[in-house]
Amino acid sequence: MKLKFTKDISKETNKVFIASKLDDLKNYISKECMTYFKTAWKDEAVQFIKTPSTTVYVINRKGKNAEAMRKLGNQVHSALKNEKSVGVYGDANGDLLAFVEGFLLSNYQFLKYFTDKAKRENKIKTLAVAGDLKKADLDELENLTTAVFWARDMVNEPVSYLDSVVLAQEIQAKGKAGNYSVKVLDKKAIEKEKMGGLLAVNQGSVTPPTFTIIEYKPKNAKNKKPIVLVGKGIVYDTGGLSLKPTAHSMDLMKSDMGGAAAMAGVMHAIALNKISVHVIALIPSTDNRPGKNAYAPGDVVTMLDGTTIEVLNTDAEGRMVLADALAYGNQYNPELMIDAATLTGAAVRALGSKTSICMGNAKDKVFEKLEKAGNDMHDRVVRFPFWDEWKEDLKSDIADMKNLGGPSAGMITAGKFLEHFTKHPYIHIDIAGPAFLEAAEDYKGKGGTGAGVRLLYQFLKNY
Ligand code: BES
Ligand code: ZN
Ligand code: ZN
Repeated sequence: MKLKFTKDISKETNKVFIASKLDDLKNYISKECMTYFKTAWKDEAVQFIKTPSTTVYVINRKGKNAEAMRKLGNQVHSALKNEKSVGVYGDANGDLLAFVEGFLLSNYQFLKYFTDKAKRENKIKTLAVAGDLKKADLDELENLTTAVFWARDMVNEPVSYLDSVVLAQEIQAKGKAGNYSVKVLDKKAIEKEKMGGLLAVNQGSVTPPTFTIIEYKPKNAKNKKPIVLVGKGIVYDTGGLSLKPTAHSMDLMKSDMGGAAAMAGVMHAIALNKISVHVIALIPSTDNRPGKNAYAPGDVVTMLDGTTIEVLNTDAEGRMVLADALAYGNQYNPELMIDAATLTGAAVRALGSKTSICMGNAKDKVFEKLEKAGNDMHDRVVRFPFWDEWKEDLKSDIADMKNLGGPSAGMITAGKFLEHFTKHPYIHIDIAGPAFLEAAEDYKGKGGTGAGVRLLYQFLKNY
Protein backbone atom coordinates (compact mmCIF):
# COMPACT_ATOMS: atom_id res chain seq x y z
CA MET A 1 0.00 0.00 0.00
CA LYS A 2 1.24 3.44 -0.96
CA LEU A 3 0.54 6.79 0.63
CA LYS A 4 -0.66 9.58 -1.63
CA PHE A 5 -0.29 13.18 -0.52
CA THR A 6 -3.32 15.11 -1.69
CA LYS A 7 -5.28 18.29 -1.06
CA ASP A 8 -8.72 16.82 -1.26
CA ILE A 9 -10.24 13.44 -0.45
CA SER A 10 -13.77 14.22 -1.63
CA LYS A 11 -13.46 11.85 -4.57
CA GLU A 12 -12.48 8.85 -2.46
CA THR A 13 -15.28 6.39 -1.83
CA ASN A 14 -14.29 5.85 1.78
CA LYS A 15 -13.40 8.89 3.81
CA VAL A 16 -11.92 9.24 7.25
CA PHE A 17 -11.99 12.57 9.05
CA ILE A 18 -10.00 13.32 12.18
CA ALA A 19 -10.91 16.28 14.34
CA SER A 20 -11.35 17.31 17.94
CA LYS A 21 -14.54 19.28 17.25
CA LEU A 22 -17.16 18.13 14.83
CA ASP A 23 -17.69 21.76 13.78
CA ASP A 24 -14.16 21.82 12.34
CA LEU A 25 -15.40 19.40 9.69
CA LYS A 26 -18.38 21.39 8.52
CA ASN A 27 -16.65 22.38 5.29
CA TYR A 28 -15.81 18.79 4.53
CA ILE A 29 -18.81 16.63 5.25
CA SER A 30 -22.37 16.98 4.12
CA LYS A 31 -25.16 18.36 6.29
CA GLU A 32 -26.86 14.97 6.47
CA CYS A 33 -23.69 13.35 7.66
CA MET A 34 -23.15 16.13 10.16
CA THR A 35 -26.56 15.60 11.68
CA TYR A 36 -25.92 11.92 11.91
CA PHE A 37 -22.56 12.29 13.64
CA LYS A 38 -23.81 14.93 16.08
CA THR A 39 -25.82 12.36 18.00
CA ALA A 40 -22.93 10.18 19.09
CA TRP A 41 -19.91 12.45 18.78
CA LYS A 42 -19.23 13.07 22.45
CA ASP A 43 -18.49 9.56 23.63
CA GLU A 44 -17.26 7.59 20.71
CA ALA A 45 -13.74 7.78 19.29
CA VAL A 46 -14.82 6.29 15.97
CA GLN A 47 -18.14 6.87 14.28
CA PHE A 48 -19.09 5.85 10.80
CA ILE A 49 -21.96 6.04 8.40
CA LYS A 50 -22.38 3.80 5.37
CA THR A 51 -24.50 4.76 2.38
CA PRO A 52 -24.68 2.88 -0.92
CA SER A 53 -22.11 5.24 -2.44
CA THR A 54 -19.80 6.11 0.42
CA THR A 55 -18.61 5.29 3.90
CA VAL A 56 -17.63 8.20 6.10
CA TYR A 57 -15.66 7.79 9.31
CA VAL A 58 -15.27 10.51 11.85
CA ILE A 59 -12.62 10.20 14.51
CA ASN A 60 -12.65 12.26 17.65
CA ARG A 61 -9.00 12.88 18.43
CA LYS A 62 -9.67 14.87 21.60
CA GLY A 63 -7.52 13.62 24.45
CA LYS A 64 -5.85 10.99 22.28
CA ASN A 65 -2.08 10.64 22.31
CA ALA A 66 -0.05 9.39 19.34
CA GLU A 67 -0.36 5.76 20.36
CA ALA A 68 -4.14 6.00 20.73
CA MET A 69 -4.22 7.42 17.20
CA ARG A 70 -2.08 4.55 15.88
CA LYS A 71 -4.52 2.13 17.47
CA LEU A 72 -7.45 3.92 15.84
CA GLY A 73 -5.56 3.69 12.56
CA ASN A 74 -5.43 -0.06 13.13
CA GLN A 75 -9.14 -0.23 13.96
CA VAL A 76 -10.15 1.64 10.81
CA HIS A 77 -7.70 -0.40 8.75
CA SER A 78 -9.47 -3.61 9.77
CA ALA A 79 -12.67 -2.18 8.32
CA LEU A 80 -11.21 -0.69 5.13
CA LYS A 81 -8.31 -2.97 4.21
CA ASN A 82 -10.16 -4.40 1.24
CA GLU A 83 -11.49 -1.10 -0.13
CA LYS A 84 -9.83 0.35 -3.20
CA SER A 85 -10.47 3.99 -2.54
CA VAL A 86 -9.72 5.38 0.92
CA GLY A 87 -8.84 8.90 1.96
CA VAL A 88 -8.06 10.42 5.33
CA TYR A 89 -8.22 14.07 6.30
CA GLY A 90 -6.87 15.35 9.60
CA ASP A 91 -6.70 18.76 11.13
CA ALA A 92 -3.58 18.30 13.19
CA ASN A 93 -0.17 17.17 12.03
CA GLY A 94 0.99 14.77 14.73
CA ASP A 95 -2.32 13.04 15.21
CA LEU A 96 -2.97 12.55 11.54
CA LEU A 97 0.50 11.19 10.98
CA ALA A 98 0.16 8.76 13.90
CA PHE A 99 -3.20 7.57 12.57
CA VAL A 100 -1.67 6.99 9.13
CA GLU A 101 1.25 5.20 10.77
CA GLY A 102 -1.08 2.82 12.59
CA PHE A 103 -3.05 2.23 9.41
CA LEU A 104 0.09 1.61 7.35
CA LEU A 105 1.77 -0.68 9.90
CA SER A 106 -1.45 -2.71 10.06
CA ASN A 107 -1.29 -3.46 6.36
CA TYR A 108 1.70 -5.79 6.72
CA GLN A 109 1.20 -9.36 5.55
CA PHE A 110 3.66 -12.23 5.19
CA LEU A 111 2.12 -14.29 2.41
CA LYS A 112 5.16 -15.73 0.66
CA TYR A 113 4.38 -19.34 1.52
CA PHE A 114 0.65 -19.37 0.76
CA THR A 115 -0.31 -20.79 -2.62
CA ASP A 116 -3.38 -18.53 -2.71
CA LYS A 117 -1.54 -15.30 -1.94
CA ALA A 118 -3.63 -13.17 -4.29
CA LYS A 119 -6.82 -14.16 -2.52
CA ARG A 120 -5.40 -13.35 0.87
CA GLU A 121 -3.80 -10.06 0.00
CA ASN A 122 -5.43 -6.88 1.34
CA LYS A 123 -7.09 -5.13 -1.58
CA ILE A 124 -6.29 -1.57 -0.57
CA LYS A 125 -3.58 -0.10 -2.82
CA THR A 126 -3.32 3.53 -1.78
CA LEU A 127 -4.29 5.70 1.13
CA ALA A 128 -4.90 9.32 0.12
CA VAL A 129 -3.85 11.68 2.90
CA ALA A 130 -4.90 15.31 3.17
CA GLY A 131 -4.57 17.83 5.94
CA ASP A 132 -2.12 19.53 8.14
CA LEU A 133 1.11 17.79 7.25
CA LYS A 134 3.92 17.89 4.71
CA LYS A 135 4.61 15.45 1.90
CA ALA A 136 8.06 14.98 3.42
CA ASP A 137 6.44 13.63 6.61
CA LEU A 138 4.60 10.99 4.60
CA ASP A 139 7.76 10.07 2.66
CA GLU A 140 9.68 9.66 5.90
CA LEU A 141 6.94 7.49 7.38
CA GLU A 142 6.77 5.39 4.24
CA ASN A 143 10.55 4.80 4.24
CA LEU A 144 10.55 3.89 7.92
CA THR A 145 7.65 1.49 7.40
CA THR A 146 9.45 -0.11 4.46
CA ALA A 147 12.35 -0.83 6.79
CA VAL A 148 10.04 -2.18 9.52
CA PHE A 149 8.34 -4.50 7.00
CA TRP A 150 11.69 -5.74 5.78
CA ALA A 151 12.71 -6.50 9.37
CA ARG A 152 9.39 -8.30 9.92
CA ASP A 153 9.91 -10.32 6.73
CA MET A 154 13.35 -11.46 7.83
CA VAL A 155 12.07 -12.51 11.25
CA ASN A 156 9.14 -14.39 9.69
CA GLU A 157 11.34 -16.21 7.19
CA PRO A 158 12.16 -19.74 8.37
CA VAL A 159 15.75 -20.94 8.41
CA SER A 160 14.90 -23.20 5.46
CA TYR A 161 15.21 -19.99 3.44
CA LEU A 162 16.97 -17.43 5.62
CA ASP A 163 20.23 -19.03 6.70
CA SER A 164 23.33 -17.06 7.66
CA VAL A 165 24.46 -16.73 4.05
CA VAL A 166 21.09 -15.58 2.71
CA LEU A 167 20.72 -13.11 5.58
CA ALA A 168 24.02 -11.50 4.55
CA GLN A 169 22.95 -11.49 0.88
CA GLU A 170 19.63 -9.84 1.69
CA ILE A 171 21.41 -7.08 3.58
CA GLN A 172 23.85 -6.64 0.71
CA ALA A 173 21.02 -6.27 -1.77
CA LYS A 174 19.31 -3.67 0.41
CA GLY A 175 22.58 -1.76 0.74
CA LYS A 176 22.84 -1.56 -3.03
CA ALA A 177 19.26 -0.33 -3.34
CA GLY A 178 19.65 2.19 -0.52
CA ASN A 179 23.15 3.28 -1.56
CA TYR A 180 25.06 2.46 1.61
CA SER A 181 28.03 0.20 2.12
CA VAL A 182 27.69 -3.49 3.06
CA LYS A 183 30.67 -5.80 3.40
CA VAL A 184 30.34 -9.48 4.25
CA LEU A 185 33.11 -11.47 5.93
CA ASP A 186 32.95 -15.16 4.98
CA LYS A 187 34.14 -18.07 7.12
CA LYS A 188 37.76 -17.67 6.03
CA ALA A 189 37.78 -13.98 6.95
CA ILE A 190 36.00 -14.78 10.23
CA GLU A 191 38.72 -17.33 11.02
CA LYS A 192 41.38 -14.77 10.18
CA GLU A 193 39.78 -12.33 12.62
CA LYS A 194 39.82 -15.12 15.23
CA MET A 195 36.13 -14.72 16.07
CA GLY A 196 36.23 -17.73 18.38
CA GLY A 197 32.70 -17.24 19.74
CA LEU A 198 31.01 -17.09 16.36
CA LEU A 199 33.07 -20.03 15.08
CA ALA A 200 32.31 -22.13 18.17
CA VAL A 201 28.55 -21.69 17.80
CA ASN A 202 28.86 -22.45 14.09
CA GLN A 203 30.63 -25.81 14.68
CA GLY A 204 27.33 -27.70 14.73
CA SER A 205 26.06 -26.12 11.51
CA VAL A 206 26.30 -27.23 7.90
CA THR A 207 26.15 -23.58 6.79
CA PRO A 208 29.17 -21.28 7.19
CA PRO A 209 28.88 -18.24 9.46
CA THR A 210 28.75 -14.71 8.09
CA PHE A 211 29.73 -11.39 9.59
CA THR A 212 28.09 -8.43 7.89
CA ILE A 213 29.36 -4.87 8.23
CA ILE A 214 26.92 -2.14 7.26
CA GLU A 215 28.09 1.46 7.14
CA TYR A 216 26.13 4.64 6.58
CA LYS A 217 28.32 7.74 6.59
CA PRO A 218 26.65 10.92 5.37
CA LYS A 219 28.82 13.97 4.63
CA ASN A 220 26.86 16.07 7.10
CA ALA A 221 27.14 13.62 10.01
CA LYS A 222 26.63 15.30 13.40
CA ASN A 223 28.89 12.83 15.18
CA LYS A 224 32.68 12.75 14.73
CA LYS A 225 33.05 9.21 16.08
CA PRO A 226 30.60 6.62 14.77
CA ILE A 227 27.83 4.87 16.62
CA VAL A 228 28.28 1.10 16.39
CA LEU A 229 25.21 -1.15 16.40
CA VAL A 230 25.41 -4.91 16.84
CA GLY A 231 22.54 -7.30 16.10
CA LYS A 232 22.23 -10.96 17.14
CA GLY A 233 21.90 -12.93 13.91
CA ILE A 234 21.16 -16.47 15.12
CA VAL A 235 19.03 -17.63 12.20
CA TYR A 236 17.86 -20.62 14.22
CA ASP A 237 18.46 -21.57 17.83
CA THR A 238 17.95 -25.21 18.78
CA GLY A 239 20.02 -24.64 21.89
CA GLY A 240 22.79 -26.77 20.38
CA LEU A 241 23.91 -29.77 22.45
CA SER A 242 22.12 -28.14 25.42
CA LEU A 243 19.05 -28.73 23.30
CA LYS A 244 16.03 -26.61 24.17
CA PRO A 245 14.30 -28.79 26.69
CA THR A 246 10.60 -28.02 26.92
CA ALA A 247 7.65 -28.52 24.58
CA HIS A 248 7.41 -25.73 21.99
CA SER A 249 10.51 -23.93 23.28
CA MET A 250 12.08 -24.25 19.82
CA ASP A 251 9.02 -23.43 17.72
CA LEU A 252 9.71 -19.73 17.36
CA MET A 253 13.47 -19.84 17.22
CA LYS A 254 13.60 -18.77 13.58
CA SER A 255 13.10 -15.36 15.19
CA ASP A 256 16.44 -15.46 16.98
CA MET A 257 17.86 -13.06 14.41
CA GLY A 258 15.41 -10.36 15.51
CA GLY A 259 18.33 -8.20 16.69
CA ALA A 260 20.01 -8.49 13.28
CA ALA A 261 16.73 -7.58 11.59
CA ALA A 262 16.34 -4.58 13.89
CA MET A 263 19.84 -3.26 13.20
CA ALA A 264 19.74 -3.92 9.44
CA GLY A 265 16.25 -2.38 9.38
CA VAL A 266 17.28 0.78 11.18
CA MET A 267 20.33 1.19 8.92
CA HIS A 268 18.02 0.97 5.92
CA ALA A 269 15.63 3.50 7.43
CA ILE A 270 18.29 6.09 8.29
CA ALA A 271 19.85 5.72 4.84
CA LEU A 272 16.52 6.09 3.00
CA ASN A 273 15.63 9.13 5.10
CA LYS A 274 19.16 10.59 4.98
CA ILE A 275 19.50 11.04 8.71
CA SER A 276 22.72 12.93 9.51
CA VAL A 277 24.52 10.44 11.75
CA HIS A 278 27.45 8.16 11.02
CA VAL A 279 26.46 4.62 12.01
CA ILE A 280 28.07 1.20 11.55
CA ALA A 281 26.12 -2.01 12.15
CA LEU A 282 27.70 -5.42 12.71
CA ILE A 283 25.74 -8.64 12.21
CA PRO A 284 27.34 -11.92 13.32
CA SER A 285 25.26 -14.79 11.97
CA THR A 286 24.96 -18.56 12.19
CA ASP A 287 22.43 -21.14 13.28
CA ASN A 288 22.92 -22.99 16.58
CA ARG A 289 22.61 -26.76 16.22
CA PRO A 290 23.78 -29.93 17.88
CA GLY A 291 25.13 -31.43 14.64
CA LYS A 292 28.59 -32.22 13.39
CA ASN A 293 31.33 -31.12 15.73
CA ALA A 294 29.00 -28.94 17.79
CA TYR A 295 30.58 -26.99 20.63
CA ALA A 296 29.91 -28.67 23.92
CA PRO A 297 29.33 -27.74 27.56
CA GLY A 298 32.74 -27.73 29.19
CA ASP A 299 34.54 -26.40 26.13
CA VAL A 300 36.82 -23.43 26.55
CA VAL A 301 36.65 -20.94 23.72
CA THR A 302 39.11 -18.14 23.01
CA MET A 303 37.23 -15.10 21.81
CA LEU A 304 38.34 -12.44 19.31
CA ASP A 305 39.82 -10.23 22.04
CA GLY A 306 41.66 -13.15 23.68
CA THR A 307 39.21 -13.62 26.58
CA THR A 308 38.69 -17.30 27.39
CA ILE A 309 35.14 -18.52 27.97
CA GLU A 310 34.04 -21.74 29.62
CA VAL A 311 30.89 -22.84 27.83
CA LEU A 312 28.45 -24.23 30.37
CA ASN A 313 25.33 -24.04 28.23
CA THR A 314 25.44 -24.04 24.45
CA ASP A 315 21.99 -22.40 24.44
CA ALA A 316 23.63 -19.22 25.72
CA GLU A 317 24.99 -18.80 22.18
CA GLY A 318 23.83 -15.24 21.55
CA ARG A 319 26.38 -13.75 23.89
CA MET A 320 29.13 -15.83 22.24
CA VAL A 321 28.55 -14.30 18.81
CA LEU A 322 27.71 -10.81 20.10
CA ALA A 323 30.86 -10.66 22.22
CA ASP A 324 33.06 -11.08 19.15
CA ALA A 325 31.08 -8.45 17.26
CA LEU A 326 31.34 -5.97 20.13
CA ALA A 327 35.07 -6.60 20.42
CA TYR A 328 35.41 -6.13 16.66
CA GLY A 329 33.45 -2.86 16.96
CA ASN A 330 36.03 -1.34 19.33
CA GLN A 331 38.37 -0.69 16.39
CA TYR A 332 36.01 2.04 15.12
CA ASN A 333 36.55 4.01 18.32
CA PRO A 334 32.80 4.54 18.62
CA GLU A 335 31.08 7.24 20.62
CA LEU A 336 28.43 4.69 21.62
CA MET A 337 27.80 0.98 21.14
CA ILE A 338 24.32 -0.50 21.16
CA ASP A 339 23.36 -4.11 20.68
CA ALA A 340 19.91 -5.57 20.14
CA ALA A 341 19.30 -9.25 20.73
CA THR A 342 16.63 -11.82 21.43
CA LEU A 343 18.98 -12.80 24.19
CA THR A 344 17.20 -14.28 27.20
CA GLY A 345 14.11 -16.14 28.27
CA ALA A 346 14.57 -14.21 31.52
CA ALA A 347 13.63 -10.98 29.71
CA VAL A 348 10.47 -12.60 28.34
CA ARG A 349 9.48 -13.99 31.73
CA ALA A 350 10.10 -10.65 33.46
CA LEU A 351 8.19 -8.29 31.17
CA GLY A 352 6.57 -10.24 28.34
CA SER A 353 6.03 -8.78 24.90
CA LYS A 354 5.14 -5.18 25.77
CA THR A 355 8.65 -3.82 26.12
CA SER A 356 12.31 -4.43 25.50
CA ILE A 357 14.78 -4.27 28.37
CA CYS A 358 17.79 -1.97 28.19
CA MET A 359 20.82 -1.62 30.42
CA GLY A 360 24.41 -0.50 30.14
CA ASN A 361 27.13 1.93 31.17
CA ALA A 362 26.37 4.83 28.84
CA LYS A 363 25.50 8.16 30.51
CA ASP A 364 22.04 8.60 32.03
CA LYS A 365 21.34 11.31 29.46
CA VAL A 366 21.75 8.82 26.61
CA PHE A 367 19.39 6.38 28.31
CA GLU A 368 16.87 9.15 28.82
CA LYS A 369 16.97 9.86 25.10
CA LEU A 370 16.54 6.20 24.30
CA GLU A 371 13.60 5.87 26.69
CA LYS A 372 11.99 8.97 25.21
CA ALA A 373 12.42 7.63 21.67
CA GLY A 374 10.83 4.38 22.82
CA ASN A 375 7.87 6.15 24.40
CA ASP A 376 7.38 8.45 21.40
CA MET A 377 7.28 5.49 19.02
CA HIS A 378 5.69 3.05 21.45
CA ASP A 379 8.62 0.72 20.72
CA ARG A 380 9.48 0.90 24.36
CA VAL A 381 12.45 0.10 26.60
CA VAL A 382 12.61 -0.30 30.35
CA ARG A 383 15.97 0.32 31.95
CA PHE A 384 17.30 -2.35 34.28
CA PRO A 385 20.17 -2.00 36.77
CA PHE A 386 23.66 -2.94 35.67
CA TRP A 387 25.68 -3.22 38.86
CA ASP A 388 29.06 -4.94 38.84
CA GLU A 389 27.94 -7.39 41.54
CA TRP A 390 26.33 -9.44 38.77
CA LYS A 391 29.77 -10.08 37.27
CA GLU A 392 30.39 -12.44 40.18
CA ASP A 393 27.87 -14.85 38.66
CA LEU A 394 30.05 -15.23 35.58
CA LYS A 395 33.22 -16.42 37.33
CA SER A 396 34.58 -19.68 35.96
CA ASP A 397 36.79 -22.22 37.72
CA ILE A 398 39.00 -22.74 34.68
CA ALA A 399 38.66 -19.73 32.34
CA ASP A 400 38.27 -15.92 32.41
CA MET A 401 34.46 -16.17 32.40
CA LYS A 402 31.68 -18.69 31.88
CA ASN A 403 28.83 -18.11 29.47
CA LEU A 404 26.20 -18.87 32.08
CA GLY A 405 25.06 -16.70 34.98
CA GLY A 406 23.25 -17.63 38.18
CA PRO A 407 19.67 -18.82 38.60
CA SER A 408 18.19 -15.30 38.63
CA ALA A 409 18.52 -11.99 36.77
CA GLY A 410 19.56 -13.84 33.61
CA MET A 411 18.95 -10.82 31.40
CA ILE A 412 21.40 -8.78 33.47
CA THR A 413 24.20 -11.34 33.73
CA ALA A 414 23.94 -11.71 29.94
CA GLY A 415 24.40 -7.93 29.64
CA LYS A 416 27.35 -7.94 32.03
CA PHE A 417 28.95 -10.73 29.98
CA LEU A 418 28.69 -8.58 26.84
CA GLU A 419 29.94 -5.43 28.58
CA HIS A 420 33.25 -7.20 29.21
CA PHE A 421 34.02 -7.02 25.49
CA THR A 422 33.27 -3.31 25.00
CA LYS A 423 35.69 -0.45 25.52
CA HIS A 424 33.21 2.36 24.88
CA PRO A 425 29.92 3.65 26.31
CA TYR A 426 27.52 0.78 25.91
CA ILE A 427 23.80 -0.01 25.83
CA HIS A 428 22.43 -3.54 25.62
CA ILE A 429 18.82 -4.04 24.48
CA ASP A 430 17.18 -7.41 25.06
CA ILE A 431 14.28 -7.60 22.60
CA ALA A 432 13.38 -11.25 23.26
CA GLY A 433 9.90 -10.29 24.48
CA PRO A 434 8.56 -7.96 21.76
CA ALA A 435 10.45 -9.28 18.68
CA PHE A 436 7.88 -11.95 17.86
CA LEU A 437 4.22 -12.10 18.83
CA GLU A 438 2.05 -15.18 19.13
CA ALA A 439 -1.09 -13.02 19.21
CA ALA A 440 -1.61 -9.74 17.37
CA GLU A 441 -1.25 -6.50 19.33
CA ASP A 442 -3.05 -3.77 17.42
CA TYR A 443 -0.91 -2.67 14.45
CA LYS A 444 1.61 -5.37 15.24
CA GLY A 445 0.25 -8.60 13.87
CA LYS A 446 1.22 -12.14 14.79
CA GLY A 447 4.84 -12.98 14.06
CA GLY A 448 7.82 -10.68 13.55
CA THR A 449 7.21 -7.13 14.74
CA GLY A 450 10.35 -5.26 13.69
CA ALA A 451 10.88 -4.35 17.36
CA GLY A 452 13.79 -1.96 17.73
CA VAL A 453 13.65 -0.43 14.25
CA ARG A 454 11.31 2.44 15.11
CA LEU A 455 12.92 2.85 18.54
CA LEU A 456 16.44 3.24 17.19
CA TYR A 457 15.35 5.25 14.16
CA GLN A 458 13.83 7.88 16.45
CA PHE A 459 16.85 7.73 18.76
CA LEU A 460 19.31 8.27 15.91
CA LYS A 461 17.17 10.93 14.26
CA ASN A 462 17.18 12.97 17.46
CA TYR A 463 20.81 12.21 18.29
N1 BES B 1 17.32 -17.26 21.95
C1 BES B 1 17.28 -17.57 23.30
C2 BES B 1 16.48 -16.57 24.13
C3 BES B 1 14.99 -16.52 23.87
C4 BES B 1 14.11 -17.30 24.59
C5 BES B 1 14.49 -15.65 22.93
C6 BES B 1 12.76 -17.21 24.34
C7 BES B 1 13.13 -15.57 22.69
C8 BES B 1 12.25 -16.37 23.41
C9 BES B 1 18.69 -17.61 23.89
O1 BES B 1 19.70 -17.98 23.03
C10 BES B 1 18.68 -18.58 25.01
O2 BES B 1 18.43 -19.71 24.77
N2 BES B 1 18.98 -18.10 26.21
C11 BES B 1 18.99 -18.92 27.35
C12 BES B 1 20.23 -18.55 28.14
C13 BES B 1 20.52 -19.43 29.28
C14 BES B 1 20.92 -20.81 28.80
C15 BES B 1 21.62 -18.80 30.08
C16 BES B 1 17.76 -18.68 28.17
O3 BES B 1 17.36 -17.52 28.31
O4 BES B 1 17.16 -19.64 28.64
ZN1 ZN C 1 19.98 -20.08 22.91
ZN1 ZN D 1 19.36 -17.59 21.02
